[in-house]
Amino acid sequence: MKAFVLEKYRSPLRQIDMPEPVPGDHEVLVRMSAAGINHADERVRTGEFARIFPFALPLVMGSEFAGEVIATGKDVEGFPIGMQVFAYVDLAQTGGFAEVIAIDQKHLAPAPRSASLVEAASLPVVGLTAWQGLVNMGQLRKGQTVLIHGGSGGVGAIAIQLAKHLGATVATTVSSANADFVRDLGADIVIDYGSEDFAQRVRDVDLVLDTQGGDVLKKSLGVLRPGGTVIGITGPPDPDFAKRVGVKAPVKLAITALSAGIRRRARRQGVTYRFLFIEPNGEHLRHIAGLIDQSVLRPIVDRVEPFERTPQALEAVLTGGHRGKIVVSTQPTDISHG
Ligand SMILES: NC(=O)c1ccc[n+]([C@@H]2O[C@H](COP(=O)([O-])OP(=O)(O)OC[C@H]3O[C@@H](n4cnc5c(N)ncnc54)[C@H](OP(=O)(O)O)[C@@H]3O)[C@@H](O)[C@H]2O)c1
Repeated sequence: MKAFVLEKYRSPLRQIDMPEPVPGDHEVLVRMSAAGINHADERVRTGEFARIFPFALPLVMGSEFAGEVIATGKDVEGFPIGMQVFAYVDLAQTGGFAEVIAIDQKHLAPAPRSASLVEAASLPVVGLTAWQGLVNMGQLRKGQTVLIHGGSGGVGAIAIQLAKHLGATVATTVSSANADFVRDLGADIVIDYGSEDFAQRVRDVDLVLDTQGGDVLKKSLGVLRPGGTVIGITGPPDPDFAKRVGVKAPVKLAITALSAGIRRRARRQGVTYRFLFIEPNGEHLRHIAGLIDQSVLRPIVDRVEPFERTPQALEAVLTGGHRGKIVVSTQPTDISHG
């Protein structure tokens, strides 16, 4: 099978031929049809995540995909041959940029019936981020107000729709070119980050989903009501994250130090900062698939590139200017670009 591997940190991804994996007892073997591209793929490529996840190189890259079940391990239940499925691959393992993928059944879910496999491949990372951020960690409720930074991006476009479904008032920051796009997704308050100061537009917000970090994160603390929460997904990581991924003591200390400033600042302002790093979770993906099939959520795919152009698709994600997700596909009929 063909796969994109990283042989050395910071080197370009290289397509190689390699043997297909053999599924373990709890694993499902999937023929990948499409794979989503994420900023996290670049962080793996540059070695930024290497202190937290000690990857063994060469590493098959890629963190999400959709495809069809072609074989199962002996303890697998509920994933018959031929079923269309989608998954987020545990970032500690990666492996989505391959024609055939072996994945633990608990990370996998049936793909939404009403979506194409390209659309399904666009969903795991952004769907889990929205679900685990707004529902699990943020506990967003009807009548509350949420500020979502970067509403036209992969995460933002799904998070806006999920927050509206939960009954929240949604404020979002975007470039002026994307104002109508996010209004169409359901955003109530649209703030052009190029010409407006979001801190002048919203206040007493219950929850902020921060996709930007840096000054945007710091300033976000100031728009919260007392007791409100900012969930950061670009960092800095916090001690709960260090505990969850089980890093060694020196790395845990380093992680704790990274977010000490923002956590202290939050405490002084009577609010909370938490870092979200999504976990693979087939159950959460089933919720997302259900919401897609009920037309509550709409997958947003900016473009589809051929699988052979995975490195260029990653470049395109980093360059920006896309709405929603960039996806690669092994199926020539899916291609919209390249
Ligand atoms: N921790 C986790 O588990 C996790 C999970 C998913 C993603 N992430 C991270 O979250 C970030 C966003 O991911 P994504 O997939 O949504 O990226 P994306 O598709 O590239 O979207 C980023 C968005 O940010 C917007 N933006 C740029 N500058 C901004 C500013 N100053 N204020 C507000 N918005 C601004 C852009 O909007 P315009 O195009 O309108 O300029 C763009 O739509 C990435 O860093 C990614 O690695 C983390």
